[in-house]
Amino acid sequence: MRINNFEEYQQAYKKSVEDPEGFWGEIANEFVWKKPFDKVLEWNFEEPNVKWFLGGKLNITENCLDRHVENKPQQTAIIWEPNDPSDEAVSLTYKVLHERVCRFANVLKKHGIKKGDRVCIYMPMIPELVVSVLACARIGAIHSVVFGGFSAKSISDRINDSQCKMVITSDGAVRGTKSIPMKETVDDAIVTCPSVEKVIVATRTRTPVSMIKGRDYWWEDEIKKVSADCPAEEMDAEDPLFILYTSGSTGKPKGVVHTCGGYMVYTTYSFVNAFQYNPGEVYFCTADIGWITGHSYIAYGPLAAGAINVMFEGVPTYPDAGRFWDIVDKHKVNIFYTAPTAIRALMGNGLEYLEGKDLSSLKVLGTVGEPINEEAWQWYHKYIGKEKCPIVDTWWQTETGGFMITPLAHITKTKPSYATLPLPGIQPALMDENGNEIEGNDVSGNLCIKFPWPSIIRTTWGDHERCKQVYFSSYPGKYFTGDGCLRDEDGYYRITGRVDDVINVSGHRIGTAEVEDALNMHLGVVESAVVGFPHDIKGQGIYAYMIMDKPVEDGEMLKKDILATVTRIIGPIAKPDHILFVNGLPKTRSGKIMRRILRKIAEGDVSNLGDTSTLLDPAVVDEIKAKVGLA
Ligand code: PRX
Repeated sequence: MRINNFEEYQQAYKKSVEDPEGFWGEIANEFVWKKPFDKVLEWNFEEPNVKWFLGGKLNITENCLDRHVENKPQQTAIIWEPNDPSDEAVSLTYKVLHERVCRFANVLKKHGIKKGDRVCIYMPMIPELVVSVLACARIGAIHSVVFGGFSAKSISDRINDSQCKMVITSDGAVRGTKSIPMKETVDDAIVTCPSVEKVIVATRTRTPVSMIKGRDYWWEDEIKKVSADCPAEEMDAEDPLFILYTSGSTGKPKGVVHTCGGYMVYTTYSFVNAFQYNPGEVYFCTADIGWITGHSYIAYGPLAAGAINVMFEGVPTYPDAGRFWDIVDKHKVNIFYTAPTAIRALMGNGLEYLEGKDLSSLKVLGTVGEPINEEAWQWYHKYIGKEKCPIVDTWWQTETGGFMITPLAHITKTKPSYATLPLPGIQPALMDENGNEIEGNDVSGNLCIKFPWPSIIRTTWGDHERCKQVYFSSYPGKYFTGDGCLRDEDGYYRITGRVDDVINVSGHRIGTAEVEDALNMHLGVVESAVVGFPHDIKGQGIYAYMIMDKPVEDGEMLKKDILATVTRIIGPIAKPDHILFVNGLPKTRSGKIMRRILRKIAEGDVSNLGDTSTLLDPAVVDEIKAKVGLA
């Protein structure tokens, strides 16, 4: 599985293209299967229908836990670093994690959860979150983790979409100086969720919460009532492992479905190779398990690889902007993986937060979630990596399950802002506006992938047609990523950002349609249009143009009310950074909003608005320009 030098990378890549089944079959055989697979791959991108490791039976938790318990039971699996640095960090060995997972899996069973049932998990970054995820996998329940920053309405939409029978949550959460209610938000959510029968509540803050008899149970009580012995359910390689909702350019977030076998193989393979993980090294990924990065590169990939995994409850700026570096120093972190937005925020706080921090344990730095600008790349390289740690810029998506284009640490020569080269098994294609593949180097286009890899999205929950439409219809026979990309003269890839109506705010995907729907629910809103604009820290910010039903009197108050509505409907992450009240929106004669123009105005650049001849009413643009002082 392990690639050791650039020549081996080239050989592996070549083999993965010429003989994908042989290539992945060999790698998959390094895992524990309850029954070996009969066939490596069956696929078409038309329906789409992709199946890996057909006939194979396994349980991913035997690979993440049991096999390590056999070989190295006392090795640390998770080091949990609490929000407050004066509280003690908690280490869980593979043996202890295994026991906790099995015990909690028995709690799930006792409360009626069976293979194939959906379980919603809404929790802060506490060890019980990893235990919950793995306990679901242990018994074959399909988890749907909802990020702790989402609103009650977002939770209930997700629960209803996949008909979850249970919710696992905590009483509250602490992040920085904030105390956040969790159970209360779940209570609000499940008022409209008839499928939910039980709620299990872990204790974190010991804040008072309402507990409904026959529905709500305390985690700490329930685990005492069951045994710690829970045989792993036999799963087919293609049985769903989890659903994770993600925003697209239209409609509500969709439930991306990943399956057991391919996801396990690919997340482990990509983790070991991109980071060049060596046994005994300490790895720290700052993501939240509510996002795909936390699923693939905290919960599953690193544990399947037997890694030592730091899990952090808090925020990078508490108690001060040196917190990440304190953690690196304290736990002697070797591999550190974060998002450009965090780097930019910490960079802005100055170098004094690095003083006195011993970062000499670091060997590899990673980044993910959005394009990393050159300035942030250089700062990360110079001040954190001391110019000796490669920056592994991993490009991938919720739908891809694992890294797609990324350097291999210390093997691939890096280049600022470039994700560099595809991993073995990944066949990128750049497409022009006529749907033709652009060959050669020094070109750019829309990024597609031509051939399946083991952790590719299988479907969108409950709506396979949507999966087909969104990912496999723009370029027939190819998976379309939604990203623009260039390939330079060396064949290196650089992701330039989304080409659809998805905004990337601090590495989080937010669909403009979703924000518009939330805005339009506010009293008096006639219509709204949302676009992204460049933001120094967040990468992109959200800019909303809004038409109200009557002249706006107290604009500031109204804006606050509107933000409260967005927070309630989606969550604070979707709050616009700017709201501009306008009398009209630039539309084509067929009624389509010309977002391109709105984007330019939001960027503060109206020097070249492009072709405006199709505008229904050009005066609308002049009015908006005048409002923002760009006329
Ligand atoms: O636009 C790309 C951007 O994030 C999108 C995927 O978002 P999500 O599914 O939330 O997953 C984020 C974590 C994997 C992509 O379509 N993106 C992700 N990583 C990078 C990136 N853009 C540039 N460089 C990256 N390394």
